[in-house]
Amino acid sequence: MEQKRYGHFDDLHREYVITDPQTPWPWINYLGNEDFFSLISNTAGGYSFYKDAKFRRITRYRYNNVPMDNGGRYFYLKDGDTVWNPGWKPCKTPLDFYECRHGMSYTRITGRKNGVEASVLFFVPLKKWAEVQKLTLTNQSDEVKQLKLFSFEEWCLWNAATDMENFQRNFSTGEVEIEDSTIYHKTEYRERRNHYAFYHVNTPIQGFDTDRETFIGLYNEFADPQVVMEGKPRNSHAHGWSPIASHYIEITLKPGETKDLVFLLGYVENEQDQKFAAPQVINKEKAHALIAELDTTEKVDKAFAELCDYWDKLLNIYQVKTANDKLDRMVNIWNQYQCMVTFNFSRSASFFESGIGRGMGFRDSNQDLVGFVHQIPSRARQRIIDIASTQFPDGGCYHQYQPLTKRGNNDIGGGFNDDPCWLIFGTIAYIKESGDFSILDEMVPFDNQPGSEVTLFEHLKISMDHVIKNLGPHMLPLIGRADWNDCLNLNCFSWDPNESFQTTENVSEGTKAESLMIAGLFVVTGKDYVALCQKLGKTAEAERMQQAVDAMIEAVKKHGWDGEWYLRAYDFYGRKIGSNECEEGKIFIESQGWCTMAEIGADDGMVAKSLDSCKKYLECEHGMVLNNPAFTKYIYEYGEISSYPEGYKENAGIFCHNNPWVIIGECIAGRGNDAWSHYAKILPSYVEEKYQTLHKVEPYVNCQMVAGKDAFRPGEGKNSWLTGTAAWMWYTVSEFILGIKPDYDGIRIDPCLPETASDYTVSRKFREADYDITIHPNGSQKGVKQIVLDGQAIDGTVIPYSKGHHVVEVTM
Ligand code: BGC
Repeated sequence: MEQKRYGHFDDLHREYVITDPQTPWPWINYLGNEDFFSLISNTAGGYSFYKDAKFRRITRYRYNNVPMDNGGRYFYLKDGDTVWNPGWKPCKTPLDFYECRHGMSYTRITGRKNGVEASVLFFVPLKKWAEVQKLTLTNQSDEVKQLKLFSFEEWCLWNAATDMENFQRNFSTGEVEIEDSTIYHKTEYRERRNHYAFYHVNTPIQGFDTDRETFIGLYNEFADPQVVMEGKPRNSHAHGWSPIASHYIEITLKPGETKDLVFLLGYVENEQDQKFAAPQVINKEKAHALIAELDTTEKVDKAFAELCDYWDKLLNIYQVKTANDKLDRMVNIWNQYQCMVTFNFSRSASFFESGIGRGMGFRDSNQDLVGFVHQIPSRARQRIIDIASTQFPDGGCYHQYQPLTKRGNNDIGGGFNDDPCWLIFGTIAYIKESGDFSILDEMVPFDNQPGSEVTLFEHLKISMDHVIKNLGPHMLPLIGRADWNDCLNLNCFSWDPNESFQTTENVSEGTKAESLMIAGLFVVTGKDYVALCQKLGKTAEAERMQQAVDAMIEAVKKHGWDGEWYLRAYDFYGRKIGSNECEEGKIFIESQGWCTMAEIGADDGMVAKSLDSCKKYLECEHGMVLNNPAFTKYIYEYGEISSYPEGYKENAGIFCHNNPWVIIGECIAGRGNDAWSHYAKILPSYVEEKYQTLHKVEPYVNCQMVAGKDAFRPGEGKNSWLTGTAAWMWYTVSEFILGIKPDYDGIRIDPCLPETASDYTVSRKFREADYDITIHPNGSQKGVKQIVLDGQAIDGTVIPYSKGHHVVEVTM
């Protein structure tokens, strides 16, 4: 059946163009690159925050509401009796034309109604704590238009969690100030807060409202605010209840005339002793200065050009040109873009993550930075230090930390035994990209305690040791609270629905629960760690760890092999999980991915058998499921994994995050055709072409999970944007499929391609060099025959690093 389409890619402008506002789910974008961030849907829904979506929420948003996607930055245009919004919502007045273009850190929404076009460009200028909303109004009719414009933002009382619950207090604290065309939000500023927000427009206004009940009317909705319907502001001044910001502007447009208005949503912090200009009156100096930087069309256009230039430079670090547009647009644009977004937000704020639930994950952030490190290595460096600072002296760590305070999060605690390995994974990726070994000498504390600092290298060492010191009866790693699969809770036996699976660890005493996923991860990162030690001349440490790696390989071969695939785990009692002997959940993807990447038992045929089993038992039309068969009942000894209905999430959903593990396993084994076919199944541009309605979520980025073959509606995507999938897809395609791998001394070239691949070129900036690398696959899936660097054939597969521009020809 021909599927309905809601949009298409525009590669030239690096945009996804949505042409129907009624997408199957809000299709969103992110604004902001460093401190001030916004989420924006294709109908202008969403919210803004400063650094931390929980503690510094600037505008209010209602998750999972009716209707969906409720709250945002809305412009109401009243033209005669017709009231409409450029983004269709909230009035939902049918438009003559609608388009939303999501680009690199900006969104442009255009609507047309009765001869008037309203186009809004939303973005956060570089280094500025503000969202610009540039509204361009054009009269395309041949009569004079008298328009009434109402802007709208609703303030959040800063802490997004208490904003939703503590109404006995909240309804009395709200405070605003109004000065000319600026509305200031200053709730709690009188006491400990040193920050306020403002909403400004660069033109005189004819009125305003700041009290929600007055503006909307207690029994009205966003779709029919009483003030807008009446066409008259009430100049309300909020005292408590729910403060908002709405400007009222009268605009006359002659036929053909265009006018720009610049709205600015800003955030300001003041020093304690600089807070007030007069008793209880905000010192607005910084706001005035910020406004002055962005109060004309010219200034805003310049800031926008700078943002576009910034993205140009970032994306130009790695550009590929193949014969396949669908591949190129993901590699060159959207995959890299999603990597930046996940690096910034970890799993905190999306339309599936409420911004109040999770901070930055220890394992998540280490993986995310592998997708981002080539873009801005210095930010990855800082992130590594921040993450390592939440580690404990025994190598364990907090599972999550809060971005604002950078402190470990006590609500979740620690005990996830894969966590330490990821620090090695992230740090080595950083050094290979940047060549900066000095990071290993940085003094980094434990649990952020001053005085506890040791070198980062020491942190890596204790991370390795944490695994070795926590081995179970088969000499395999103890799983702890869980490994990568947060939902395989083997030390939590729970019949109490009020207990959290992930924080309840009620049977760890004497546990025999071991993880084959951590075993594989340990071997992969252990080999890298050994190579690093050798590079640093730490021979004894290299030998010590090589022995541990060898022992782990033996343990897996002996106790982790099921005949056709690797086992997944041993449970609390030491019984097999992910074995042919099991009734359900006979095979799991994680251990196949990690043990094939680690090449454990490759010579004995284990790798090939494991990869074949993935194809046979896990693969389906939409990707590989996490486990098979799905669990049909709750298993007390397994925890959350069996709590999900069949085919969803960790119970046999297609977890896009771990498909790349198997794909890399395929690449290492040289099976390019298989690697490609797995990869294309979860590549958004391929899904976009086939399944816009079924897939439901944004077709330009990966989502965490696609419903698996056992689900009610296989192929339906959920939890888009903030997922380790972004970094893994990037790592897979850039390093293993296209085969451009940063290494300590240069770039290793080792592609693994489908036989059908034709010649392609990668332009890669690397440290202070740039390389134009052309690969001639000649129908081969793997194996580089010859590399010619600047006209000279070289030995081996590593292009030695040297500054400047280089031309490389690779024959396979
Ligand atoms: C979490 C990851 C976890 C994965 C599998 C994600 O939601 O962010 O940390 O590894 O789920 O459970």
